Amino acid sequence: MANLQLRVYVPPHPLIEHWLAIARDVDTPMPLFRTAIGELSHWLTYEATREWLPTQAIQVQTPLAPCDAKVIDASQPIAIVPILRAGLAMLDRCQAILSNARVYHLGFKRNEETLEASCYLNAFPPQFEANTRVVVTEPMLATGGTMVQTLQELDKRGVDISLVRVLSILAAAPALQRIGEQYPSLQIYTAMIDEHLDDRAYIVPGLGDAGDRAFGTED
Ligand code: URA
Repeated sequence: MANLQLRVYVPPHPLIEHWLAIARDVDTPMPLFRTAIGELSHWLTYEATREWLPTQAIQVQTPLAPCDAKVIDASQPIAIVPILRAGLAMLDRCQAILSNARVYHLGFKRNEETLEASCYLNAFPPQFEANTRVVVTEPMLATGGTMVQTLQELDKRGVDISLVRVLSILAAAPALQRIGEQYPSLQIYTAMIDEHLDDRAYIVPGLGDAGDRAFGTED
């Protein structure tokens, strides 16, 4: 990887490999594809939040004795940002783990000639609370253009980028290069890194159009 500061985690786990294989398979029908994306989102959220979720020390009384314990500190703000459209397919399972998180939708549409994405929906508040932890769900990091724009929007609303975790099903090397150059303190969790993009900026081997496959809008 060209930028050594950006941290990209590919959690080694047989369940991640299994569900990624299902998601990649062109013969996987839409409902199973969504299940695969959901399962991958669950495990990626689990991994990404391991040293990120704030905890609070408490004491509980077990049936036998008092005991030191830790619970999630619900006073600390957490946000989930699903990137529409395909990021919606990751939202449910991410939200199931981060049940107290606020959800701020961000929508991008790709210009098929320039291959650049433009934002058509931004539900962000003018300013995020200090120390808001943010999870961004975007299944496909291909060119990195959408993610850079997303991080710019978060950055200018006061989010500390080192508190952001990006969850992607697949990340391509060109996206990691571009994102790493601009946001080296970011951490990305992905099921696999694929090296190439084709001339339409699709990830190869990839899994096709994640939005179309999740929502049944393929031709
Ligand atoms: N978006 C997708 O859905 N698939 C790709 O391969 C690249 C971008």
